[in-house]
Amino acid sequence: MNTAGTFSESWLARREQADHDARAMAPLQATVDWLATRERHAPWQLLDLGSGSGANVRYLAPRLPGPQHWHLIDHDDSLLGHAVGRCQPLRDNAGTSIHVTTHQRDLHALDTSWFAGIDLVTASALCDLVSATWVEALADACAAHHAATLITLSVDGNIRFQADDVMVNDDEDAWLFEILAAHQRRDKGLGPALGTTAPQALIAAFTARDFHIVDAESPWRLTPAQRPLALSLIDGWAAAAREQAPHDRQRIERWWQHRREALDRGHLDLLVGHRDVFAAPEPPHASR
Ligand SMILES: C[S@@+](CC[C@H](N)C(=O)[O-])C[C@H]1O[C@@H](n2cnc3c(N)ncnc32)[C@H](O)[C@@H]1O
Repeated sequence: MNTAGTFSESWLARREQADHDARAMAPLQATVDWLATRERHAPWQLLDLGSGSGANVRYLAPRLPGPQHWHLIDHDDSLLGHAVGRCQPLRDNAGTSIHVTTHQRDLHALDTSWFAGIDLVTASALCDLVSATWVEALADACAAHHAATLITLSVDGNIRFQADDVMVNDDEDAWLFEILAAHQRRDKGLGPALGTTAPQALIAAFTARDFHIVDAESPWRLTPAQRPLALSLIDGWAAAAREQAPHDRQRIERWWQHRREALDRGHLDLLVGHRDVFAAPEPPHASR
């Protein structure tokens, strides 16, 4: 991605399987349970923020009850075009077709009218790009409209190289990951980004509004079979580090060569930490 918050369709496609494999079950189950106890008079209204080409809907729709009407928001019209084509054939967990509407909008200023009538607000791989103020506005909007939220795959900064299940991170990794974390906090068009502090900011904002939280780790576990994705990550991290610390270029190149060669030889697994957070205005098992 660049600092304007734009993502290529090919990058989103490359990460989709790893994202789906990483999902935590407890927040998903809490979402299903919460919908089951909520009174419904019409199709569930589901709002996906920063939906890109629709990967989050492809994961969630078949696992959630229906009927479902999804509202997808992104500023990238071309990604939304892919999303419509690939999400319209989806069915809910009882086999009923879902309905999909897209809206090309800038998420910078969250408009509370988007939340009217919404039961569940979702987002994946978005909230490390947003600011603390944005998360507060999201929590306010969910509270005002009595909507639950499932925010998945926010990075938590826990990155590990492993050989035979043993962490082999060294001082150079620690140094590089600090530079990367600083780069992740740069403004991506949605205010000073939360980066690796996103999961805690989400939990704090919703807890402050008396929401009930179910959260769990959802790390990517990239084995040698997923080497292309691991190599793209290493390349992206080195590029981010060069931008963030241009004076340390040679040291960054040494780190990049070293880790690339080890991944190329199939010697390492790469774990990239994320967290999934479900928050609801009442407990998932409450009856109304
Ligand atoms: C990492 S991608 C995640 C996409 C999708 N949720 C997924 O899991 O594949 C972040 C998405 O946020 C969107 N985005 C970033 N900044 C935005 C903004 N200011 N307004 C609207 N969408 C934005 C991007 O276009 C992109 O689709």
